Amino acid sequence: MTDQQAQLVTTTQAARDLIAATVAEAIADGKPNPTVGLVPTMGALHDGHGALFEQARAENDVVIASIFVNPLQFDRDEDFENYPSTLNADLELVTRYGGDIVFAPDTQHMYPGYPDAPQIRVSAGEMGRMFEGASRPGHFDGVCTVVAKLWNILIPPAPAQFRSYFGQKDAQQLAIVTRMARDLNTDVAIRAVDLVRAPSGLALSSRNVRLDDHGMENALGLSKALHYLADQAAAGVPLDIAAARDIIRAQENVELDYLEIVDPATLASLTPQQLATPLASEALALVAAWVPPVRLIDNMLLAP
Ligand code: PAF
Repeated sequence: MTDQQAQLVTTTQAARDLIAATVAEAIADGKPNPTVGLVPTMGALHDGHGALFEQARAENDVVIASIFVNPLQFDRDEDFENYPSTLNADLELVTRYGGDIVFAPDTQHMYPGYPDAPQIRVSAGEMGRMFEGASRPGHFDGVCTVVAKLWNILIPPAPAQFRSYFGQKDAQQLAIVTRMARDLNTDVAIRAVDLVRAPSGLALSSRNVRLDDHGMENALGLSKALHYLADQAAAGVPLDIAAARDIIRAQENVELDYLEIVDPATLASLTPQQLATPLASEALALVAAWVPPVRLIDNMLLAP
């Protein structure tokens, strides 16, 4: 199912009918257990989203993109109201990357009665209050609420298997939705899509275009600090987090927000005792810093 225009649906019933028909077609075509991959997005798609679609296309019989600007995850109403809406271009991009179905409901369809609804929301718990959540109260609760709803709406009928794709770039979001699938017993496999770096090492982000040449240069401190820790992990020596923070602080005009080494599943910071000995299992280094005029995040898995 890759050579035709992605089909647009805007309601739950239409999405479920189309997914059921597409799964039935795949079974009739000789695939007894078709796989369905969902790429949840907020639209305004660009080639930076390409890696998500490419991996979903490579791994599944059916690829769905959801496009929904979720008001529950914005800190300020005006950011939600000014969020770009580019549905026609998005449809073209999804088609170009081989997507089959685009689910693009409006706010009232997802949250009938909004802003007084939804009454019942999903809490991201402590995992949603740390790191990025500390400066954005409620953000990850909003993400969890919409992702849980998207899964409920778009989960394909048996015997199809359901997978949902999230970028490793947003490592905290990835850890939270992975935990949510487990805690809520949702029959979905979470697939992480690798972060993409420029040849300089800078993690690709739509915010990078706002950096001038000096900003680009200074921002490299983030990936240098992460590589420094990854090299220590690989060499089997204790991780010197203070020295890694100093790499970032040494950059001109960069303000470090946090650099922490955490358990990738729980996001709990490694204790000083754990840091004093070589890593026993995989850990995740998370960093955020202001490189004016933008705030950048980056992360790297540290393998012992
Ligand atoms: O990462 C995003 O674009 C959003 O947080 C998501 C997962 C689509 C939920 O609105």
